[in-house]
Order: sequence, then C-alpha cells, then structure tokens
Amino acid sequence: MRLLASAIFLVLLPLIVSQRVRMRSTLVCKNGERVDGRCMCTPDYVGRHCEKKKMCDSFRRYHNGTCFACLEGYSGEFCEDIQCVNGEVDKNGLACICEKPYSGPFCSDLNTKDVYRLYNNRAYMMGPLGALCIIPMCALFYGCERMARKRQAKRVATMLGDVQNLTVHTDAVKSLLAEDV
Ligand SMILES: *[C@@H]1O[C@H](CO)[C@@H](O)[C@H](O)[C@H]1NC(C)=O
Repeated sequence: MRLLASAIFLVLLPLIVSQRVRMRSTLVCKNGERVDGRCMCTPDYVGRHCEKKKMCDSFRRYHNGTCFACLEGYSGEFCEDIQCVNGEVDKNGLACICEKPYSGPFCSDLNTKDVYRLYNNRAYMMGPLGALCIIPMCALFYGCERMARKRQAKRVATMLGDVQNLTVHTDAVKSLLAEDV
C-alpha cells in the first residue's frame, strides 16, 4: 500500500513541479515587475498581480507602505479592499456587484427608477396569479382604511361632544376630516 502511494507520488511530482514552474512563468504583474516568480509592486499597488491600487486618502504613508487613512469605501491593510454596502466584490476583487435595486461603485445608491423597475419586474414575473393576489390585498387595504376613517370620525365626534356638550353628527365630522387641509 505504501509502495503504491509512493509510486503515485513519484509519478505526480514532476507534474506538480512543472505546473508550478509554468504558473510562475505566466504570472502577470499589472503594476510591477516579476522577481523570482512573484510580483514586486510599484509603491501604489498591492496584490498577487499588483492589480489593486492603494486607496489612501492622502499621499502620506508609513515606512512599511500602509496608508494613514483610507478613502471612503475602501478598507484593508493597504486600503486596497473595496467595500460593497449592498452587494459583493467581484471575482477580481476590484469592483462591486450590486444587489438590485442598488447601484453605484459601492452599491450604496438607490435610484427611484431602479426601485420602480425592480417592483414592476416582480409584478410582471408574478403574472396573472400575482395580479389575482393583488386584488384581494387592495380590497383589504381599502377596507381597513375606510374602517379607520370611520373610527376616527367617531372618536372626534365623541371628543367634541364631551368637551362642548354638543350633539355632533358623525357624518359632519367625517366630511370635515375628509377635506384636505
Ligand atoms: C505599518 O506600520 C504602521 C505604523 O507603524 C502599523 O500600524 C501597521 O500595522 C504596519 N503594517 C504592516 C503591514 O506592517
């Protein structure tokens, strides 16, 4: 059994080594130079491929290259990580993929038209069944609203009656309350 494992290992070893060598020689350094199979980045960049810019809020740096403070929307040791408020970082780690209906570089913007579009799409996707659900919901809402108005009118009428010893007609109060101020 051990012999077999060793044999397999010996067969695979050259494959693994050659793969590593190949990966090293194809390593792309976007803002830096390849040295001994690693990227040495220019001062403003970090990452395996020197692909991430340091988003410092000023040109000042510590000796080790870290920022004094980050620009808004960035964090990490070198301020290289983008913060997506309502979404997630894409696979390159450079931009945000926003959840609907959010937008903007950090997924923190909410535009009225995107919100409308989202809910229109939802209603559209729900189709006729959705419409059928919406009708009783509207009826319910309308009913509740009416009941609430009635109760309010009654309350105001009793209050007025108590205070001024008057007989107040609920209907009169209702029409009064219905008027826009
Ligand atoms: C760099 O230096 C600052 C200040 O001395 C320190 O707070 C920070 O942890 C250091 N970062 C690294 C990556 O060494």
